[in-house]
Amino acid sequence: MRNVYQFVNHMNNPFKFGSVVSDDYFTDRHEEYLKLRQIIASENHVIMMAPRRFGKTSLINKVVNSIDRPVIWLDLQLMTGVADFASQLLKQLFKKYPFEKLKFLISNFRFVPVLQIDPVSNNVEISFQTKVESFVQLEDVFNLIEKLGEDRTKPIVVLDEFQELLGLDKSLDKKLRSVIQFHKNVNYVLMGSVESLMRQIFENKKSPFYHFGQIFSLNKIDLTDFRDFLDSRFISITEEHAGISEAILEFSKCHPYYTQQLAFHVWMKIEREGTTENVVKNSISDIILMHDNDFDRIWSNFNNTDKKILIGIAFSDSKLLTDEFKSKNNLNASSTVFSGLKRLQEKGVLLKTEVYEFDDPFFREWIIKKRNVN
Ligand SMILES: Nc1ncnc2c1ncn2[C@@H]1O[C@H](COP(=O)(O)OP(=O)(O)OP(=O)(O)O)[C@@H](O)[C@H]1O
Ligand SMILES: [Mg+2]
Repeated sequence: MRNVYQFVNHMNNPFKFGSVVSDDYFTDRHEEYLKLRQIIASENHVIMMAPRRFGKTSLINKVVNSIDRPVIWLDLQLMTGVADFASQLLKQLFKKYPFEKLKFLISNFRFVPVLQIDPVSNNVEISFQTKVESFVQLEDVFNLIEKLGEDRTKPIVVLDEFQELLGLDKSLDKKLRSVIQFHKNVNYVLMGSVESLMRQIFENKKSPFYHFGQIFSLNKIDLTDFRDFLDSRFISITEEHAGISEAILEFSKCHPYYTQQLAFHVWMKIEREGTTENVVKNSISDIILMHDNDFDRIWSNFNNTDKKILIGIAFSDSKLLTDEFKSKNNLNASSTVFSGLKRLQEKGVLLKTEVYEFDDPFFREWIIKKRNVN
């Protein structure tokens, strides 16, 4: 079907995946945006949970950018220890607040941080060459943020992948909570993608962070909104826009990242090849081929039970835990299936909605293809 419009070569691909999206690349989330904005603008803490690549960062970014207060942002996944957490947090403060002011407040620290300023970029490098216990350093930095909030608007502190806290130090949740529970001038946004760990931190009555703030779970993007988003872009490149948008979403099941990835590829293919024939199907095959090595590696790391469960779900749309499923897949005990499902969910391979489904629809398709070929 050569129905591609003449001017197609002059247009930019309107889809984007892999990094934070905003403006024209960002769709829907209107209700979520308003709700979150209201919570943060009224200076309440937020705990946001969603699986990987659901759009947490993009949404929080949009919300905090609409509020005129200093934002300090740190991803705990990249921290190597408590002292590193403290120094990276302090480094972020130097990006937001005047040097002289910080220098003055730092003089109250119980240790002396070493600051190095790059005269060209004005970037500040910080190291803590001291024998003071690393938690004391972290405590001083958090208390500094509280101090900064005293005479200006309340800073918003966003800690991404917050569940990683437990990996930095076993009792860091308790210690950190004991410091920040006295803070009145800081607004915390704590995000995480490992739902089971996040729930353990924030919903377990015995946890120091129990009921620390408003819990907010982010879902996939609404089908109608996502369809409109895709359609309003594909309309400028092909008459087949409606069918193409529908087929993309049927495959991606409205997952924000994978939908954008497929839409990006479909657009590129239409542009390059000038045809829409089988374009969604062929794009899916292209993407699977591109990731063949990664999928191979991921697959070889699963144990046998996990492999059986994944194959079962890939083919049967998760009619799980039924006797038929178990006997067909040689899974004998329910508890084995149950712990396998839990493990796969924790690893982010499966998502639990009303049913269990693959997080990555391309991985699912890869399994189906491999099983059908071999
Ligand atoms: N509102 C949105 N509209 C359109 N696409 C979106 C939206 N939110 C997220 N996406 C898509 O998902 C991708 C991942 O978004 P983002 O990095 O915000 O998610 P995340 O949940 O923070 O991911 P991670 O788990 O990797 O930190 C984006 O690059 C984009 O392709
Ligand atoms: Mg993120």
